[in-house]
Amino acid sequence: MDLKLYLQTNQSLVDKALSALLPGPEEPPQRLNQAIRHSLLGGGKRLRPILILACADAVGTQREQLLAFACGMECLHTYSLIHDDLPAMDDDDLRRGRPTCHKQFDEATAILAGDALLTFAFDLASRPIQGISADTLLMAVRQLAHDAGIFGMVGGQMMDLLAEHRKVDLGELRGIHRLKTGALIRCACECGARLGGGTSDQIETLKNYGAAIGLAFQITDDLLDVTGDSQVMGKATGKDEINAKSTYPSLMGIEGARHLAQEQINLALSHLESFSSAADPLRDLARYITERTH
Ligand code: IPE
Ligand code: IPE
Ligand code: MG
Ligand code: MG
Ligand code: MG
Repeated sequence: MDLKLYLQTNQSLVDKALSALLPGPEEPPQRLNQAIRHSLLGGGKRLRPILILACADAVGTQREQLLAFACGMECLHTYSLIHDDLPAMDDDDLRRGRPTCHKQFDEATAILAGDALLTFAFDLASRPIQGISADTLLMAVRQLAHDAGIFGMVGGQMMDLLAEHRKVDLGELRGIHRLKTGALIRCACECGARLGGGTSDQIETLKNYGAAIGLAFQITDDLLDVTGDSQVMGKATGKDEINAKSTYPSLMGIEGARHLAQEQINLALSHLESFSSAADPLRDLARYITERTH
């Protein structure tokens, strides 16, 4: 399988759907819609929506049906980035190769663009899907709410900020990463399997796959902050040290962190053993998590 082509094809599928689903830049309030489009369109790997589609494919489905839900997940993720970049949080100027939302517009607009994307995410995620019962859809939407909030991404972001300028142990760091980044990635896999019509065994297995790649994803993000190229990544590097963040490289060194990320990828691949070649994109995506350069 050509992963590069797979990523390009699916990224453009998601990009087109997002652009069509969002209010246009000239629709009022223009400033809000332009800020949303600035942050959401024209960049981003679209990993979470692609995982939804790939997990649905692995259990066998009509993937086009899931595009609105997948776009909802991307809106939610983008809101988390807009708020993560605010001066009160990580204070970043560059995101997806562009000025961050508060730099291009202003802080109030960035806060509102984030709020709007968070709520629009649930508008998209709750749209009916042909062949999927309202009960099943409700379970997926509730999972998204759970993993985005107190018990997931937002909870993890709070823990991340509280761990600045403080030595945390590996157990605590794992807990932070599991929530701030792992929760949404795991959720994408679980929801893709559920809305793809997977059995409860398949849903559980793909959820475990998602948990493993989710942890590896944030370890790799921490590594790229030290070893990556800001131009390629479209965001600043070296920020974790400046912000005195607790990260895997700071706790166990570059090699130790690389080893741990690889262990999680091997674990993720082992979860896919019972799946056919329909899960090949998931196998390649797992390897891509640690091999990526942005
Ligand atoms: C960045 O996420 C923030 C983290 C959770 C580490 P991505 O690396 O998926 O960012 P985009 O969506 O490709 O810009
Ligand atoms: C952010 O982690 C995780 C989110 C929930 C947004 P980081 O703060 O490390 O992400 P980057 O490095 O700014 O993309
Ligand atoms: Mg952060
Ligand atoms: Mg950040
Ligand atoms: Mg980072």
